[in-house]
Amino acid sequence: MKVARFSKIGFILAAAGSAVGLGNIWKFPYITGEYGGGAFVAVYLITVVLIGFSIMIAEMFIGYKGRSDTVSSFEKLAPKHKSFWKYAGFQSMAGLMIMFFYAVVIGWIFDYIVLSLTHLPSSVEEAQNTFTQMAHKDFFTQFFYLTVAFMIVTYVVSKGIKGGIERLNDYLMPLLFIIIGGMFLYSLSLDSFSKSFEFMFKPDWSKLNSKAFLVAVGHAFFTLSLGMGAIMTYAASMPKDSNLVKSAFWVVVLDTVIALLAGLMLFTFLYEFGAGPDKGPGLVFISLPSAFYAMGVLGNFFAVIFFIALAFAGLTSAVSLVEPMVQYMIDKHLYSRKKASIVMGLVFYFFGIVTILSGLDGTKEYLTWGGSNFFDWVDFITASVMLPLGGFVMSIFVGYIVPKSEVESVLKPHLKSFFDVWYFNLRYIAPVALFIVMLNMLGIIKF
Ligand code: PFF
Repeated sequence: MKVARFSKIGFILAAAGSAVGLGNIWKFPYITGEYGGGAFVAVYLITVVLIGFSIMIAEMFIGYKGRSDTVSSFEKLAPKHKSFWKYAGFQSMAGLMIMFFYAVVIGWIFDYIVLSLTHLPSSVEEAQNTFTQMAHKDFFTQFFYLTVAFMIVTYVVSKGIKGGIERLNDYLMPLLFIIIGGMFLYSLSLDSFSKSFEFMFKPDWSKLNSKAFLVAVGHAFFTLSLGMGAIMTYAASMPKDSNLVKSAFWVVVLDTVIALLAGLMLFTFLYEFGAGPDKGPGLVFISLPSAFYAMGVLGNFFAVIFFIALAFAGLTSAVSLVEPMVQYMIDKHLYSRKKASIVMGLVFYFFGIVTILSGLDGTKEYLTWGGSNFFDWVDFITASVMLPLGGFVMSIFVGYIVPKSEVESVLKPHLKSFFDVWYFNLRYIAPVALFIVMLNMLGIIKF
């Protein structure tokens, strides 16, 4: 049973901390680059508003009403067939699985904070070599920083909702906003800002293919932390008389604003000092460091604070990826918080090591199946399959299974006349869209 709860603002910061993560600052800019800019951004924004916001309210509702771990919350809210619906709660496992690679990437960021303090690469080739050396050849460095990430995340989660998670977010989130905001303001003063703005906001619809559309929908989910029990578990510790709609609104706004500011700022730097925007996953680890080098001394400073901000964003999301399973072990299996945190920590630590090995020369052959390594598979199974499935199940559950009167009693006072629009969307639009995305991801239908 819950004891300590978030404060109202603490909840918004923690949920925004979960949402604003590597997805915003690392992934969003590079997929925008890959899929051609403006048109992709437009689809992403429409998805965030139409589907993301609605599902976020539904996910918060389940946690807020259930007041428990995800499995127990589904069980409590289902009017019948409880033993069937409780399985929906296992979406929490997706969060822990994401940690198998998320923790490794946080480790890379730690390494880059230290690297930027000492030495920035003078060309894209050198930056590429540095990255390849670390990710494909250097087990020890990755293992060391993964261990650091494991220790921080496990410690914070073991301290609980109030003393661990809320506290971490209270400190790191304002700092993150200041760093990204400050760097954005600087980028405004550069000539290439207008080019970057045009790239992100001038849609060229001819570049938008169906794949881009699906990636945009998948990313909208990932970035908002939906479909994996993170928001649901946090919502179980919301103060009693919370306004779910307002909270969801702020989380969505903060997440979107940070993604857009980070994208505009990064593309400005890349246009002004280095490579173009279409550089794929290496954008932040390869193109950006060499652009920072070209900026001179200021670049060194920016590189360090940028990677610190990225680490903050990653850590505040990481705790939310582990917390749902920890809460489940506490509520359902009566583990102490400390024991649950350590056990779950060890699980992602162990598979984190597997992720590192799956990228290393010499071991990757043993951890690659069908052309994709362990890292890619976990990313695909979680972000492309489990997450839309989680969203689909939640929209069906809140839209059809939980009695409408119960949903209305919590949400109508806040949604007011929008309640019907939201409910309609949740019953008819969101599940259909998510179902199509899922089938497509699984290769069952092809556009
Ligand atoms: N939203 C985080 C990001 O954008 O990096 C990632 C994430 C955190 C996804 C928590 C899912 C989750 F439950």
